[in-house]
Amino acid sequence: MKAQAKPALTLALSKGRIFDETLPLLKAAGIEVLEDPEKSRKLIIGTTNPELQVVLVRASDVPTYVQYGGADLGVTGKDTLIEHGGQGLYQPLDLQIARCRVSVAVRSDFDYASAVRQGSRLKVATKYVGIARDFFAAKGVHVDLIKLYGSMELAPLTGLADAIVDLVSTGNTLKANHLVEVERIMDISSRLVVNQAALKLKQDPIRHLIDVFARTVAARQT
Ligand code: PRP
Repeated sequence: MKAQAKPALTLALSKGRIFDETLPLLKAAGIEVLEDPEKSRKLIIGTTNPELQVVLVRASDVPTYVQYGGADLGVTGKDTLIEHGGQGLYQPLDLQIARCRVSVAVRSDFDYASAVRQGSRLKVATKYVGIARDFFAAKGVHVDLIKLYGSMELAPLTGLADAIVDLVSTGNTLKANHLVEVERIMDISSRLVVNQAALKLKQDPIRHLIDVFARTVAARQT
């Protein structure tokens, strides 16, 4: 049996908002994905363009896949990109999707302003250790960082930490856990990232996708 030819381009996406909000951009390029990742367990999904396949990876792994050529392109949040460091990645476009913010949140009965003013040492739980370290260092606040991989909201409720640094979108998760947002660190949106070697070797199809995405993003801003 003849082996099927591998599609020329591989795009790394993570399930959830990034996947959902990338679909309309692909559609603008005349491309539709052939499976719903919420229904299928497949990790490689074909598209209506035989030259493009999508691989589903964890959000924090997208930059790594693209850096080492496991995927030619990927869509990743600015938060994830900062934590990764961006080595080996060409970052041509802010796609303005999956918008949210990185913020500091505490229990509603915790006096954050006084703690910071008095120069207390704050215990901060977060998945975003790099962002948190830089933010508090710039403020001159001493922190002990506790690395977590999810459910950050639980940390102040259980006494694991005084504060968390986490993504906030609607604010519903904070509210449901009696936490309040006390500082907004940065606004986040998702970026297109491209493997630098792929950009040279597969210039035409990659440039084409970048151009269509760029035009679609620009049209949405007007
Ligand atoms: C993110 C974040 C918050 C939530 C915020 O979690 O960590 O928990 O979304 O959204 P909201 O302000 O609209 O309530 P996500 O669902 O991405 O999963 P994670 O815990 O794996 O980061």
